[in-house]
Amino acid sequence: MMDQVNLGLVGGGTVGGGVWQALQRNGDLMAARLGLRLQVVRMAVRDPKRTRGFTVPTSVLTGDWSEVVHDPQVQIVVELMGGTTTAREVVRAALKLGKPVVTANKALLSAHGPELFALAAKHRTNLYYEAAVAGGIPIIKALRESFAGNRITRIAGIVNGTCNYILTRMKLEGAEFSEVLADAQRLGYAEAEPSLDIDGHDAAHKIGILASLAHGFWVRPEAIHTEGIRHLSKLDIQFAGQLGYTIKLLGIIQPVASAAPSAAKKGRNTKKAPDDGQASGIQVSVYPALVPNTHVLASVNHAFNAVAVRGDTVGDTLFYGRGAGQDPTASSVLGDLADAALDLRAGNHHRVPPFAAHNGQGRVVPMDTIASRFYVRLDVSDRPGVFARIATVLARAQIGISSIIQPEGHSGETVPVILMLDAASNQSVRKALATIGKLPVVKSKPVVLRVENLD
Ligand code: NAP
Ligand code: HSE
Repeated sequence: MMDQVNLGLVGGGTVGGGVWQALQRNGDLMAARLGLRLQVVRMAVRDPKRTRGFTVPTSVLTGDWSEVVHDPQVQIVVELMGGTTTAREVVRAALKLGKPVVTANKALLSAHGPELFALAAKHRTNLYYEAAVAGGIPIIKALRESFAGNRITRIAGIVNGTCNYILTRMKLEGAEFSEVLADAQRLGYAEAEPSLDIDGHDAAHKIGILASLAHGFWVRPEAIHTEGIRHLSKLDIQFAGQLGYTIKLLGIIQPVASAAPSAAKKGRNTKKAPDDGQASGIQVSVYPALVPNTHVLASVNHAFNAVAVRGDTVGDTLFYGRGAGQDPTASSVLGDLADAALDLRAGNHHRVPPFAAHNGQGRVVPMDTIASRFYVRLDVSDRPGVFARIATVLARAQIGISSIIQPEGHSGETVPVILMLDAASNQSVRKALATIGKLPVVKSKPVVLRVENLD
């Protein structure tokens, strides 16, 4: 008889349902590969009576998560319910019993990671979280194990499937943001609370986890500069296209030497990973950015994610795959379950170290001190002297303009003006645009996006 490892699932929605169905489909194959059979013996859902797209025996299903966690048969707990309140209780209860936990919950890890990893260590068990970042892409395993011999000099990633899906449809169809959000929800990509996706928080949760793994200290979510895509219009997508760029919600993690405002140089980003590895800290940020169409990240479309990792030993690598949705996420959960089951059998409770294991020290550099190139869209009155007023403010702040687009309008109308700015500190651009936004000729809040060459 083959050994069996018993699983308790908390959550049977998009991801939980995917895990259940994938195990029905590929359970025999996994058993043959692992020499162990993974069997779901309990599953908790909010409403056990609800009709689902798959059948779970009533003896397995319950409406009470604590029955799953405390069932002596259950050896590994899989938290797939989402949220940070009850999910935290579930994970804590399982870890306190010494049961390994597999989770896809990046919001939970972002909010309570240090506590939960410490609890796992204290109770000599493991917490696995591959599905928490970039859906089906095995980026956690790569950073934690495959790149153990590298200093990570840059991570640039598209890690939110919902935003990438929305931006792709805005570009390909000329659709407006609000028209495509509902489709992302229907397809199971969006979080229960969609503002987590569109305001950049979900990407920040994931980028924080990657930054912590790559740089060996816990990156607090509050330290991550986060912007979403809610304010973008199809006009921005179109103008970026005219300039040879595609707008993507990017997560960026890289060592930086703080760039003072005077470091602004014409034409290129001035932020650079210092050659000697003696950075003053790391940039950890999420924002929509213009990516050159020639860069591979510009071609990552729909709910696909991609994470470009640069290591000092390996050089440039790219991880690409489906970043959201039922099956890709289930795939990562199953990968973690394979590790968890084998670790359990081998009595290995520290193969997967907590985030801060290798260093524990470091600092996130404030965004204001970092230099970037910028795209700015202003809605202005089409009358003489407008450019002069805007250019004066920028010149006083020593910010150069590298190009201007203004579609032809009629005198007195409000027309969009696009400015591409030379590299300047985020602080100086923020201040200059606050002044420009108050000029009577400027008719709405400026739209400001960074330009990332990623070279
Ligand atoms: P979902 O479809 O809303 O499923 C949530 C599941 O949890 C449902 O089965 C729900 O029960 C159950 N549940 C909620 N509250 C419960 C409670 N108090 N007790 C027991 N069960 C409870 O969510 P999801 O999309 O699968 O996401 C689950 C997790 O995976 C989240 O942390 C999410 O961030 C993460 N994730 C999702 C994706 C994705 O593409 N969807 C990708 C990566 C990671 P009912 O079915 O009865 O409502
Ligand atoms: N809502 C998330 C996304 C799910 O759109 O990427 C995958 O983590």
